[in-house]
Amino acid sequence: MEILEPLDITGWEGPFPPEAVARGAAALEEGKVLYAPRLRFELSEAERRFLSPAYLDSKSKNISFRPDQCVVQGTRCQGDDRQDLLLMLKRFFSQARALLTGLCPTYRDRLTAGLTSFRPAQVEGRKTSWRKDDTRLHVDAFPSRPLQGQRILRVFANVNPAGTVRLWRIGEHFEQVAATLVPHIRPPLPGSSWLLQHLKIIKGRRTPYDHFMLNIHDRMKADEQYQANVSQTEVPFPAGAAWACFTDSVSHAAMSGQFAFEQTFYLPVAAMQDPGRSPLRVLERLVGHPLA
Ligand code: SIN
Ligand code: FE
Repeated sequence: MEILEPLDITGWEGPFPPEAVARGAAALEEGKVLYAPRLRFELSEAERRFLSPAYLDSKSKNISFRPDQCVVQGTRCQGDDRQDLLLMLKRFFSQARALLTGLCPTYRDRLTAGLTSFRPAQVEGRKTSWRKDDTRLHVDAFPSRPLQGQRILRVFANVNPAGTVRLWRIGEHFEQVAATLVPHIRPPLPGSSWLLQHLKIIKGRRTPYDHFMLNIHDRMKADEQYQANVSQTEVPFPAGAAWACFTDSVSHAAMSGQFAFEQTFYLPVAAMQDPGRSPLRVLERLVGHPLA
């Protein structure tokens, strides 16, 4: 299967060519990456000052924006700098939303916005634990935010001013990943989800679906043999390009690059054109019972 579904568009707001709209949601649900090589996220002359890791606070690798609360985190700046960062991130959120609702009209009223992030740190050479190491192939799953089956749909843009690519590896299709790993995963312990929620370790109930997805995420990242030997392709995303995919089913790893934007959205399984392709339904077919 071709991994990329190319889109010859240069603007974030529709209307988009009818062929692109007809394929948008279907391509994403098949596990492809919508790839717009000429869709540049423009920064103003003044905003280019933010193309430096210096605006990050010491604990963060991203500067993030919460569209629902209109707040910025991950930076130590105050005053005008903070306000300008907020406006830049907010614009990426609006453009990413316009892109997805234009390309996937059936998702329009069903997408919930998650965090917006600006990633000014260099990917290569970063020191982290294996679990947080996104240079290892993985599917996304969040330990403290149970999704209970909801999809994770993310929009990315490479804004590197020197023209440096953002290099990803893309691995196997979710069906294959799940078929290999699920037989090794023990079901959650009875009561564990209640305990996690009531000790306020996580927000909301961790369903058996979340348990399986976190286990898959961890097993993929922990296994050096898997990382080296699984069938995979290197995909360089050039500066000035944008791309989108369901990162809970597309196995991905970010190998190198600097200066990118990312917007997360959540989508209920029922809003998909083919819910049978969701990780929830794939996992339920493998284990033989409901997981959320
Ligand atoms: C990730 O989602 O694992 C990282 C992607 C990126 O920053 O390019
Ligand atoms: Fe990821």
